[in-house]
Amino acid sequence: MEYIIGGTASKTVAEDITKILKGKLVNTISKRFPDDELYVRIQDNVKGKDVIIVQTTYPDPNVIELFLLQNAVEEAGAKRITVVIPYYGYARQDTKFQDGEAISAKAIANLISLNADKVITVDPHKEHILDFFSTSAFSCSAVPEIAKYLIEKNIDMVLAPDKGAVDRAKKASEIINCDFDYMEKTRIDGTTVEIKPKNLDSENKNVAIIDDIISTGGTMAKSIKELKKQGAKKVFVACTHGLFADNAIKKLSTAGCDEIISTDTIVSDYSKVKIAPSVAGLI
Ligand code: R5P
Repeated sequence: MEYIIGGTASKTVAEDITKILKGKLVNTISKRFPDDELYVRIQDNVKGKDVIIVQTTYPDPNVIELFLLQNAVEEAGAKRITVVIPYYGYARQDTKFQDGEAISAKAIANLISLNADKVITVDPHKEHILDFFSTSAFSCSAVPEIAKYLIEKNIDMVLAPDKGAVDRAKKASEIINCDFDYMEKTRIDGTTVEIKPKNLDSENKNVAIIDDIISTGGTMAKSIKELKKQGAKKVFVACTHGLFADNAIKKLSTAGCDEIISTDTIVSDYSKVKIAPSVAGLI
């Protein structure tokens, strides 16, 4: 039987995984000292057990909590440690775009690998990030669960906001049984993108745009505006990881978005799709 620990960022996902695997949810204490340093303690005996720690590594304090939980489990003598990272933060800095930069995705992976026998993450920004872990690392996709949610919405077409993400749109369209295509996006900088008009045959159609991450909402907002200009009836935006930084939600609504859908890799009011079934399948 698996022993499952939920970090602060991923309590519900851990509970869901526990139910699916019929495992045991481990009681933990996580609190802050007066100087704000974190303290964690696992309250059940995990000696010789298979332990699964579930923790999204965003925002930064959750990374520290994961390291401490991993250490606590290791110190307690667990047989095997699986780290499930619903949203692996820092994944977009996966290379040196300019000299002198850190490869942040690699730096964090190195540290997580110190106390892990296996790592599982969901829709990593790029698959090659898995190679940064020095332990065995796997990914699963939330797209099938997102597509199942969208089936109810009478979607005529699924779009990727850029060509690189078209496989995700294709996968969703196969489940929904509708068309798929992609938009032509050029990223200018961290907050500005350009979506080139492309005749997508979206007139009077219900369109779902699927991406791995919504951060500032800039990519989706531009895409929504373009689709509405082309006469789309309803535009749904769906992502695995809803960061919703700055005023992303307002940007999406102002652009004319009909519904925002995210999973619970990062918990928000838009977490309408659960990722536990996808993760549990992989465990
Ligand atoms: C980029 O390659 C990602 O897949 C997303 O498209 C991007 O992170 C979205 O960012 P934003 O919401 O800030 O446009």
